[in-house]
Amino acid sequence: MPKAKISALGCYVPPRLLTNFDLEKMVDTSNEWILERTGIVERHIAAPDVATSDMAVEAARVALAQRGIEASDLDALLVCTVTPDMYFPSTACLVQHRLGAKKVWGFDLIAACSSFLYGMGVGAHLVMAGTHKKVLVIGADTMSRIIDYTDRSTCILFGDGAGAMLIEPSEDDNNGLIDFLYEIDGSGGDALKMPAGGSRMPPSHDTVEKKLHYVHQDGQAVFKYAVRKMYEACRELLARNNMSGKDIGCLICHQANRRIIQATADRLGMPPEKVIINIDRYGNTTSATLPLATRDAVTEGRLKKGDLVVYAAVGAGFTAGASLWRWAY
Ligand code: COA
Repeated sequence: MPKAKISALGCYVPPRLLTNFDLEKMVDTSNEWILERTGIVERHIAAPDVATSDMAVEAARVALAQRGIEASDLDALLVCTVTPDMYFPSTACLVQHRLGAKKVWGFDLIAACSSFLYGMGVGAHLVMAGTHKKVLVIGADTMSRIIDYTDRSTCILFGDGAGAMLIEPSEDDNNGLIDFLYEIDGSGGDALKMPAGGSRMPPSHDTVEKKLHYVHQDGQAVFKYAVRKMYEACRELLARNNMSGKDIGCLICHQANRRIIQATADRLGMPPEKVIINIDRYGNTTSATLPLATRDAVTEGRLKKGDLVVYAAVGAGFTAGASLWRWAY
C-alpha cells in the first residue's frame, strides 16, 4: 500500500477583522473576558457577497500554485464544511467548476470541527488505496452566517476562513500518514447544533423568529468533553505507536479554545514551543483551523520536513479524533 503525504498547503482568510473591542460594542462582553476564557483577540469575517465556495477556491489556488500543478491534474476534491453555499449541489461541485478541475469526483464532508481531520484521513485513504494520485482536501467555513451576533456566549468564538491540503503518494515510506484514531458519539448531539433548516425542522417564520438557524451551544458541556477527548485521542494514538508527547515535534489541535489546547498539551507533556496556537488571530474557523495552524507552523519554522506531527480535533456531534503524520516537505 503506498503511503500518503501532504505535499502542498494553501489558506485564505477574508480581510475584514472583527476584534474583541468591536464585540464590546455589540454585546455585553469585554476584551479581558474573551482573552482569558478563550485566547481569542480577533477573527476574520467574510464580506456579505462572499460564500464558503469563494474562500475554498482561493485556498485551493494557493495550494495548487505551491505544488506547481493545474486543477485538471486533481483526481478527487473534498470540501469539509458545516456552512456549504447551499445544501445541494455540494460545495465540492461548485469549487470543481470554478477551479476547472476537469477529471475529479468529490463530495462535501460534514463533521463540524472535526471535518478537516476526517477529510485528511479520507483523502489519505483514497491515495493509499492506490486509486488516486492527487486529492485536494479543503476545509472552509463561513461561520459568521450561522452566528447570532446578539448571543455573547457564541458570537465571540467563531471566525471565517479556508485551507486546502494536497495529498499524494509518498515516494519515501517514512513520510505521510502513520496512524489515525477517529470516534463519533452522538449522545452529545444536543450540546452543539444548528437546530433548524433540515428535514427535522424545516425553515419557517417560527424557526427564524426563534433564531433556530444559528449555532446553539452548551459551552460547558462541549468544553468538558473536548478537554477530556482531545487528550485521550492523542494519548491512545501515541501509545499504540509506542510513543509519548516527547517523541512528537509538533501538536496541531483544532482551535476552539486556548484552554482546551493547553490542557491537552500539558497532559501530553509537550512544551509550548511544540504546540501551535493561533486562535488569537482567527478564532474558531471550524473546518479551517487545522490548515491555518499548519500554515503558521510551517511559516514560523516550527514544522519541518521529517517532524512527527499530531493533529487532533473535537467537534459537534460529538466528533473527535487524532492522526499521526511525518511531515514531508
Ligand atoms: N462575555 C462575558 N461574559 C460571558 C460571555 C461573554 N462573551 N459569555 C458568557 N459569559 C458569562 C456567562 O453568562 C456566565 O455568567 P454567570 O456566571 O453570571 O452565569 C459566565 O460568563 C461563565 O460562563 P461559562 O459558560 O461558564 O464560561 P466558560 O468559562 O465555560 O467559557 C466558553 C465559555 C464558551 C468560552 C467555553 O465554555 C468554551 O470554550 N466551550 C467550548 C466551546 C467550543 O469548543 N466550541 C466549539 C466546539 S469545537
